Amino acid sequence: MDTELSYLQRKGAEYFIQETKRVIEQRHTALPMAYVHSFGCQQNQSDTEKIMGMLSAMGYGFTPTAENADLVLFNTCAIRENAETKILGNIGAIKQYKMANPNLVVCVCGCMVQQKHIVEKLQKSYGFVDIIFGTHALASFPELLYQKLAGLETKLVNVLDKTDDIVEGLPVHRQDALKAWLPIMYGCDNFCTYCVVPHVRGRERSRRPEDILAEVRQLVADGYREITLLGQNVNSYGKGLSPAINFSGLLRQIAEIPGEFRVRFMTSHPRDCTHELLDTIAAYDKLCIGIHLPVQSGSDRILQAMNRHYDTAHYLELVDYARKKIPGVMFTSDIIVGFPGETRAEFESTLELIRKVRFEKLFTFIFSPRPGTKAAEMEDPVPYSVKSGWLRELLEVQTDIVYDLYAQMIGHTFVVLAEAESKSKPGVLIGRTNTNVLMEFEGTKDLIGHFIPVKALKATKTAVIGQIIE
Ligand code: 5AD
Ligand code: SF4
Repeated sequence: MDTELSYLQRKGAEYFIQETKRVIEQRHTALPMAYVHSFGCQQNQSDTEKIMGMLSAMGYGFTPTAENADLVLFNTCAIRENAETKILGNIGAIKQYKMANPNLVVCVCGCMVQQKHIVEKLQKSYGFVDIIFGTHALASFPELLYQKLAGLETKLVNVLDKTDDIVEGLPVHRQDALKAWLPIMYGCDNFCTYCVVPHVRGRERSRRPEDILAEVRQLVADGYREITLLGQNVNSYGKGLSPAINFSGLLRQIAEIPGEFRVRFMTSHPRDCTHELLDTIAAYDKLCIGIHLPVQSGSDRILQAMNRHYDTAHYLELVDYARKKIPGVMFTSDIIVGFPGETRAEFESTLELIRKVRFEKLFTFIFSPRPGTKAAEMEDPVPYSVKSGWLRELLEVQTDIVYDLYAQMIGHTFVVLAEAESKSKPGVLIGRTNTNVLMEFEGTKDLIGHFIPVKALKATKTAVIGQIIE
C-alpha cells in the first residue's frame, strides 16, 4: 500500500527507467558504464544502492574509475566541512573527463545539494555538472536522466524542500552478498544544535512494518546473513504509524522470522533508548549485542547546549542496565570534541565518561560549524590546534581501553560470521562477533557466509586473533 504521491513517484520511476533504457539501447552498441562514488553514512550508502539499482535497470554497468565512464554520479554528504571540501575536489576532478568526452553525464545528489548555497556554487563554478537532485528526489533520477539523454533539457536540478513520502519498491543493487542495509525510517526531528541532518534529510518518517518485514524475509531467502536496520534515530521508529508500533515491537517481529541471520541497527539516541529495547535485545539471539549509542560528550552542560535531552547520569544508567541484562554487551559511540565554548574541564569530563563506559569503538570528530545550525552561531574561542590536541589525547586513552577489552576476550569462544579472506594474509579469514569485534582466524574460503565458533587467542589493537573450535 502506497500513499497516492509515493505510488505516483514509484510508477514515474518505473516508467522513466524503461524510457531511458530505450534511449540508451538506441544509442549504444556497448554496455554504458557508470562510475558511482558515495560519501557519508550508511543511510547514504543505502540510497546509493537504490540509485545503482535504477542505473542497472536502465542498462548501465559499473566501472571503478571515472576515466572512460559514460556517467559519473556523486552521492554527497554534508555532515562536516572537510567532507564537503573533499567532495568538491572530487567533483572538480571530473571536468577533464567532461572536456574529453562532452557526452559524459555528470550527476551530483544527496545531502550536500539539499543546501541552497551548494547548488548555487555548483551552478556557478562547476558548470559541467548536468544533473543535481536532493535526498527527497531520489525517485526522480530516471526522469532527470531521461530528459538529459533524450536532449529535452541540458541542465537539470530537482531539490525538493521536503517530503512526507516514502517511495517503496525502487530496485536495489546491493554491494555485498552477506550484509545488507535496510532503512526503516528517514529523516530526523531532533535538531541537535550542531547537526545538519534535519536540514538536509527532512522530518522523521517511518516505513510500514509490513514493508520492512517483507524485505527482511526476502533478504534471508536470498542468503543474507546480517541485516543492519538504518535510521537517524531508530529508537523513535513508528511515530505516526497506525496501528501503533515502536522499535522494540518491530525488532521482535524481525527476530521471529525464521532463518540463519542476525540483526544490527543504527543509530540509537540515548534519550529514546528504553529498558524495553534493552530487554528485547536480551531476549533474542538474532539481535546483536554491540550497541551503537552516540553520547557526543561527557559534560552535562555541553549535552544541554547540544540539545541532546539527556545527561551523563541517564547514559550511564542505560549502560549499567544493559550490562546487567545482556551478558557480554559492548557499546560503541560518537564523540564531538571542541563543541563551541567547551572548556578543558568539560573535555576532561568526556575522557572520564570514556574511561567509565569502556567503549569498543569510538567515531571521533572535531566540531565543524554547519551553515543553518544553531551551534554555528555560538561563540567558539578555542583554537583548532587545541581541539586537535584534545582529540589526540582522547584517542590515546581509547586505544588502551580497546586493547584491554580485546585482551579480556582471550580464552572465550564467540560466534563469528566469516565474511572474507584477509587481503594481506592468505588462508586467514576475517569476520565479526555479535558485538561487532573483528576476529581473524585460519580457515578455508568455503566457510565464508557461515556462523562459526571461534576461540579468542590473542589481542591486537584493532582485532582479536582466534582459532576455529571444531
Ligand atoms: N561537527 C562534528 N561532528 C558532527 N557530527 C554531526 N554533526 C557534526 C558537526 N557539525 C558527528 C556526530 C554524529 C556523527 C554522525 O557525526 O557525532 O553522531
Ligand atoms: Fe549521512 Fe548526515 Fe552525511 Fe547525509 S549529512 S550523508 S545523513 S552523515
